[in-house]
Amino acid sequence: IKRIGVLTSGGDAPGMNAAIRAVVRAGLHHNLEVFGIYNGYQGLHADDIRPLERHSVSDVITRGGTFLGSARFPEFKEEKVREEAVENLKKHGIDALVVVGGDGSYMGAMRLTEMGFPCIGIPGTIDNDIAGTEFTIGFDTALNVAVEAIDRLRDTCSSHNRISVVEIMGRHCGDLTSSAAVAGGAEYVIVPEIAFDKDELIRQIHEGVAKGKKHAIVAICENVCDVNELAKEIQAATGRDTRATILGHIQRGGTPTAQDRIMASRMGARAVELLLEGYGGRCVGLQNNHIVHHDIIDSIKHLKRPFNEEMYQLSNTLF
Ligand code: F6P
Repeated sequence: IKRIGVLTSGGDAPGMNAAIRAVVRAGLHHNLEVFGIYNGYQGLHADDIRPLERHSVSDVITRGGTFLGSARFPEFKEEKVREEAVENLKKHGIDALVVVGGDGSYMGAMRLTEMGFPCIGIPGTIDNDIAGTEFTIGFDTALNVAVEAIDRLRDTCSSHNRISVVEIMGRHCGDLTSSAAVAGGAEYVIVPEIAFDKDELIRQIHEGVAKGKKHAIVAICENVCDVNELAKEIQAATGRDTRATILGHIQRGGTPTAQDRIMASRMGARAVELLLEGYGGRCVGLQNNHIVHHDIIDSIKHLKRPFNEEMYQLSNTLF
């Protein structure tokens, strides 16, 4: 292969820029030409493709987001759209692709590989919900943001004897929530993997208040319930002022942590090596601090992403 492309797709994540930088610099190191595909698969289809030089990725390692831009582009599921995208790749003489994103992005990479375009996936999402890797790029940064937010909420909660319900992202994965709960010392944790018993939660909070507990933090993953409603119900049951805070997209921004930058750099460099070794349809991951690679199809369909039960239990034990 002589020319490779790199794109970021799906929800952005801090550390994606570090991954792009690593792909570009490793590519140049191996005498490849590297092209940036702007705005994910949408840009691939719209032929938004430009060469990236060494200086194109200067100073990006510290920046959150992705300078290539990202998009959710469900139209890429259509074969005709993919064929048009492949024409664009051919036009630019690009032989292979590195895709940074979540499992939706992996599916696109798999389909392109099946169409004769070898792709390597790099796990980039704050959700930590991809099988075949212990961590995804962006998770650590988002975790630190969530923990800082919990710390701040604790200050104001304790001043006002309030209960705070804090909604944390993760789509359908509780990793971010349970890790933030442990690091932030939250009193209660609710994750999608464990059936939510609202009455039991309210009973426990009520019991805590009755015993003299002055304030409490409830960490809850998004998509479990309406947190504003939950806060109202807790307030009605306990008589304690209760506020809901949805951290939202704040968690997706900011300068990536050293851990995310290092992991992104390792994964980006390894992805380029895999293409040079003739691989396609693979995704890199981190296991026991080693960079590994799996079939994308296994990551999407067969490998199970284990629920981090230990972390969940720990947050309950330490409460
Ligand atoms: O996948 C990352 C993520 O931030 C999820 O945690 C969240 O559910 C979703 O993306 C939000 O998507 P959007 O940015 O399209 O609103």
